[in-house]
Amino acid sequence: MLPLFVSLIVLLLQPSHAASSTAADEFVYQGFASANLALDGLAVVTPGGLLALTNATNQAKSHAFHPTPLRFLNTSASTAVARSFSTCFVFSIVSSYDGLSDHGLALVVAPTTDFSTANAGQFLGLLNATNGTASHRVLAVELDTIMNPDFQDIDSNHVGIDVNSLKSEQARTAGYYDGGVFQELKLNSHKPMQVWVDYDGEAGQLNVTLSPVKVPKPQRPLLSRAVDLSTLMADPMYIGFSSATGVVPTHHYVLGWSFRMDGPAPPIDFSKLPTLPRLGPKPRSKVLVAVLPLATALLVAAVLAAVFLAIQRRRRYAEVREDWEEEFGPHRFSYRDLFRATDGFKDRNFLGVGGFGRVYKGVLPASGQEIAVKMVSHDSRQGVREFVAEVVSIGRLRHRNLVQLLGYCRREGELLLVYDYMENGSLDRYLHDKHAPTLSWHERFRIIKGVATGLLYLHEDWEQVVIHRDVKPSNVLLDAGMNARLGDFGLARLYDHGTVPQSTHVVGTIGYLAPELMRMGKVTPSTDVFAFGVFLLEVACALRPIGPSSGGGDDDGGRVALVDWVMGHHLGGSILDAVDPRLVGEYEAEEATLVLKLGLMCAHPSASLRPSMRSIMQCLDSGGSVPDPSHGYTSYSTMTALMQNDGFDSFVMSSTNPSSTDGASYVTELSGGR
Ligand SMILES: *[C@@H]1O[C@H](CO)[C@@H](O)[C@H](O)[C@H]1NC(C)=O
Ligand SMILES: *[C@@H]1O[C@H](CO)[C@@H](O)[C@H](O)[C@H]1NC(C)=O
Ligand SMILES: *[C@@H]1O[C@H](CO)[C@@H](O)[C@H](O)[C@H]1NC(C)=O
Ligand SMILES: *[C@@H]1O[C@H](CO)[C@@H](O)[C@H](O)[C@H]1NC(C)=O
Ligand SMILES: *[C@@H]1O[C@H](CO)[C@@H](O)[C@H](O)[C@H]1NC(C)=O
Repeated sequence: MLPLFVSLIVLLLQPSHAASSTAADEFVYQGFASANLALDGLAVVTPGGLLALTNATNQAKSHAFHPTPLRFLNTSASTAVARSFSTCFVFSIVSSYDGLSDHGLALVVAPTTDFSTANAGQFLGLLNATNGTASHRVLAVELDTIMNPDFQDIDSNHVGIDVNSLKSEQARTAGYYDGGVFQELKLNSHKPMQVWVDYDGEAGQLNVTLSPVKVPKPQRPLLSRAVDLSTLMADPMYIGFSSATGVVPTHHYVLGWSFRMDGPAPPIDFSKLPTLPRLGPKPRSKVLVAVLPLATALLVAAVLAAVFLAIQRRRRYAEVREDWEEEFGPHRFSYRDLFRATDGFKDRNFLGVGGFGRVYKGVLPASGQEIAVKMVSHDSRQGVREFVAEVVSIGRLRHRNLVQLLGYCRREGELLLVYDYMENGSLDRYLHDKHAPTLSWHERFRIIKGVATGLLYLHEDWEQVVIHRDVKPSNVLLDAGMNARLGDFGLARLYDHGTVPQSTHVVGTIGYLAPELMRMGKVTPSTDVFAFGVFLLEVACALRPIGPSSGGGDDDGGRVALVDWVMGHHLGGSILDAVDPRLVGEYEAEEATLVLKLGLMCAHPSASLRPSMRSIMQCLDSGGSVPDPSHGYTSYSTMTALMQNDGFDSFVMSSTNPSSTDGASYVTELSGGR
């Protein structure tokens, strides 16, 4: 069904009679609150001043007339002549169904306001089915939104000039000329539009012009028709609006209206017009229309960001935690705590690369305790469980000469070990860093005794034998009181698990590895003693176990084993010449001799001749006698050479950087040898 919106200016022209024209000829309504219009049917003026001609009631009609009649005829001449007039109004058609609307609206000029016999629907409340205009003549300008074939309508969106009939004298599709270009306007678009109806009495020409509000009156009218109103006008005549509904709920509104006889209609001030009510699904406010997509976008962005952050956070703090770890719960640190403790493992918290991994300093957020976190990378999933069990059991080791292991945390391919933080760092630095202060003999002897005490505890005094496997100065840490504490014990075990059957991993550091360990891969307390022997010599001489040739001893391509070099001095009868020259002779000769000889004894190539930690401890405590270490001695270089002849790859002297200062441990794989 086609909506019909007719704006009809109906002039119901009764047989004219002479009358003088003295009526008030002009009005402007910007809203109708105080207009006192003559209303009937559905028509109401809303509290806001809007003239609502129809509401959603079906098959009803309505009228609204200017309350007083106007003199449209000049009767002073012999034959009455229709006067020029001009009127304009702003209307809006609001349909509950987009694009569909009911019958239209008309501006009407008629001799009466009584339209009780007219019909609704397509008759626009102006006429009736029996063409009840026998006694009336009507002028109307219709704004029609239904194409009705009965009235030969041109389309469902047109403006027409009607005289005594709903069959228009002239009709055009609604729109306006913008310059020369025709712009169609949809009458039922909900948008307010303005209509001008201008009659030139002299020329007998009626013009109708349409435009959207805020667009100034177009130069060219939409309709222009020669109509002689002189024969149609009565005196006086009423001017007003008529509207009718069919079955589509439609609202016809008039927002403002002005009129002038003998001159152009006064302009309507749009800013003073009442606002149209919201209808149906509430039209979203402009602010909302602008803000909603933005807000939605922001919300979506925020949600995405939150999800992203959550995922990143999850990933960042991701840990590997398995059921079997339950029993180790108290020793387990959360990665998040460690991450926070170390400021996200920032460089400024980086302490160095220790045995097996990078070490960071941290402060536990909860307790404020200073910690060192070692990140040990491990690939094998195999053996992790045993290792963690061991770590935890090692965590139970408590000794003043051991660095306390506080706990651990597991991530994918990474194990984090948490230790007490040691203020004075590793011994290695004091021995080999030129910029570090030189340790006095007294301090060195104390450190040696401390390390020996720690090792003895590991070997003999704890409930099970723990072999350190990587005794060396860089694994000896100094606490605030310069007490020596052994660190990294047991770590080498991590690499034992998951061993490839055909090869033996020898874990430890080149130069500290006992010959039988290199040959057989056999780890015993005695291999720790060997490393301790090298350690003793290193502390006393401040030389690396394998270093550039320096004065005496056996040469091996410019490198010399410290053990052999000290042995050289011993055999030459001047073992004290080996003592660190930086001490400038300030040391206890007896203690130094003891330490050097004990060092040679411990580093003896024959494991069976090495003393146990307990007898070493006794020696250090009481200055007991040390057997001649040169007995059965084979030089380290010779041992190496022999092993190479045995088919071992050259790995000791040539595969490492003996002057390395990072203290890193080397994991050497000996294929074939057991
Ligand atoms: C329409 O207007 C008439 C007359 O004012 C009124 O009786 C009727 O309730 C109105 N209908 C609606 C749906 O507002
Ligand atoms: C009416 O017509 C007479 C004679 O044509 C003219 O003098 C007079 O100005 C007109 N009055 C109006 C109000 O147009
Ligand atoms: C109605 O009346 C007018 C004038 O009297 C006439 O021109 C028109 O054709 C009539 N319409 C119909 C549908 O009878
Ligand atoms: C049509 O209008 C005329 C004139 O007002 C009236 O006499 C007639 O009774 C109306 N017809 C109907 C069916 O209402
Ligand atoms: C009607 O329109 C024509 C054509 O644009 C114009 O010449 C004439 O002056 C207009 N008449 C009125 C009363 O506006």
